[in-house]
Amino acid sequence: MINKNSKIFVAGHNGLVGSAIVRKLREKGYKKIITVNKTKLDLTNQSKVYNFFKKKKPKFIFIAAAKVGGIYSNNKYRAEFIYSNLSIQNNIIHSAYRCNIKDMIFLGSSCVYPKFCNQPIKEDFLLNGKLEKTNEPYAIAKIAGIKMCESYNDQYKTNYKCLMPTNTFGPNDNYDLLNSHFFPSMIRKIHELKQKKGKNLILWGDGSPKRELIYVDDLADACVFFMNKKIKETIINIGTGKDLTIKEYANLLLKIIYPGKKLKILFDRTKPNGTPRKVLNINLAKKYGWKAKTNIEEAIKITYRDYLRKTTK
Ligand SMILES: NC(=O)c1ccc[n+]([C@@H]2O[C@H](COP(=O)([O-])OP(=O)(O)OC[C@H]3O[C@@H](n4cnc5c(N)ncnc54)[C@H](OP(=O)(O)O)[C@@H]3O)[C@@H](O)[C@H]2O)c1
Repeated sequence: MINKNSKIFVAGHNGLVGSAIVRKLREKGYKKIITVNKTKLDLTNQSKVYNFFKKKKPKFIFIAAAKVGGIYSNNKYRAEFIYSNLSIQNNIIHSAYRCNIKDMIFLGSSCVYPKFCNQPIKEDFLLNGKLEKTNEPYAIAKIAGIKMCESYNDQYKTNYKCLMPTNTFGPNDNYDLLNSHFFPSMIRKIHELKQKKGKNLILWGDGSPKRELIYVDDLADACVFFMNKKIKETIINIGTGKDLTIKEYANLLLKIIYPGKKLKILFDRTKPNGTPRKVLNINLAKKYGWKAKTNIEEAIKITYRDYLRKTTK
């Protein structure tokens, strides 16, 4: 259990998930949160990570640092995705073990599961089939991270837990049109369409893939909840258990961002769809007493306000 004075290191605190974990920890009254910028500590540097842990002596670690992106960047920067993610997680997990840090949450992703697995996806479908090609290097790195946590737990009796979140969105997201995930990029496209008073919304693929989304504050809540929970399994899915098509998400965003407008949604079928359907089975998380609480429309409104704040600065 974390106590209010425990030293807690949040790796990746400037990112979407890391910043939400810091917010959640502060909200819950944890006082000793350790963070460090990438310019001061590049987590791909093994000796620097080890020395940092020796000096700062955290007791709990959340690994929310990673090289992250959407279909385009996962596919284009395949080498960087596998190298950075393997290095960051290897350095943190192994240095934590060497410094006798027993408690850690490692964030994976739902893309670790096979492309064509049964839905909703259970934790034990891991390694049951081929991965989606576009994000295979990223997924392989994340699977290595899971197996590393599992192996350290088995051999060294550590308590390293892996949470597999579904697509996440919220304040502090990346809105780059090429390098971001589908949802933030859709927010930006619709916002820019509204500014230009445009009539057609153009989306990648054919709009049919089904995706699940979780609000980042719910994911952060799960991270803190499971850090404090004794569990038997090493991996746990974190999602809402509900999915919509890309087209349905577009209509939901249009309703909130550009209300009252009847726009035409056009699909660029020369671009990949990615995995046809991805929804997590969240029974295990529920069994331990955790579930997402935020209403999606409310979460989109908060996120859009954050987007407006950032883009109109
Ligand atoms: N976003 C999603 O939809 C989603 C879904 C499922 C799982 N996840 C998982 O959640 C975790 C966090 O994702 P995110 O969306 O929050 O990503 P993000 O917004 O891109 O944040 C990642 C953070 O990692 C830091 N970082 C990257 N390379 C680093 C390095 N070499 N040294 C130090 N820091 C480094 C970045 O620092 P800078 O800001 O300085 O670059 C950034 O703060 C990842 O493990 C990801 O797989 C995310």
